[in-house]
Amino acid sequence: MKIDYSKIYDEDLRKGDAHMAILQDYRREEFLDQTSTASHYSLLAYLSNQISNGIIIEVGSFLGLGTIALANNPSNRVITYDLLPILQAGVGGYFVEEIIDKNFFPLNIEVMVKEDGNILGEEEATVTMLDARKEVNTFQRPNDPKTIIKSDLIFLDAAHDGKMEQEIYDFLCRNDYKGILLLDDISLNKEMALFWRGIDKKKYDITEIGHGKDDDFNRSGTGLVDFSGNVEIVRPTSPPALT
Ligand SMILES: C[S@@+](CC[C@H](N)C(=O)[O-])C[C@H]1O[C@@H](n2cnc3c(N)ncnc32)[C@H](O)[C@@H]1O
Repeated sequence: MKIDYSKIYDEDLRKGDAHMAILQDYRREEFLDQTSTASHYSLLAYLSNQISNGIIIEVGSFLGLGTIALANNPSNRVITYDLLPILQAGVGGYFVEEIIDKNFFPLNIEVMVKEDGNILGEEEATVTMLDARKEVNTFQRPNDPKTIIKSDLIFLDAAHDGKMEQEIYDFLCRNDYKGILLLDDISLNKEMALFWRGIDKKKYDITEIGHGKDDDFNRSGTGLVDFSGNVEIVRPTSPPALT
């Protein structure tokens, strides 16, 4: 996969009115602001368009902004995970409530809400998705870690305690994962920084086009781990030196 820095902001985040309909107003602005230092949504939409007919996993759905960006290419199946106890304790509602209230939802997204644990267990999760008639379906389904191993891209943006991230990373290594692991917040705290430093696969710090770009005070950082062996990063060439 080629990641060309000069093309990241070419993606249309407004693609699909349905995507916009489920965003709360105050988040919509943040979502669409390509210059926002906090925003990584253009990067996520760009990556989704480098994959066709694939599987994209997101760990940490929250309000669904990342999910919507990852679903930018409708040919991919996007499976997003969160935990019910954390969502219920949070503020401002959450993604699944938004979907159900507005009955408006991209067809290629499956929201998996679990009671506890992380994405690696096989216990039941509540799945919410739309069917072809755009009707909301909510049902129980055992989690399937094999789908995670088969995925093309995993966006990990959840606990940020270094422990959960390490567990998932180790699981991917043990199972000979062949996709791309995108890590949000690699510089958020000491635990994440240590986890990032300890990764021994081919990795790239792509904060310049990710979370906290251009912001010295909020450089929480984005890292990419290339399990596929096929990632090519095309950074802008620096201007010629003055003579
Ligand atoms: C920073 S938010 C995610 C933001 C979202 N990815 C985006 O880009 O807009 C982190 C989310 O991770 C969830 N989370 C924490 N631990 C988790 C776990 N073990 N499994 C799944 N989700 C988890 C939290 O409930 C929270 O909603």
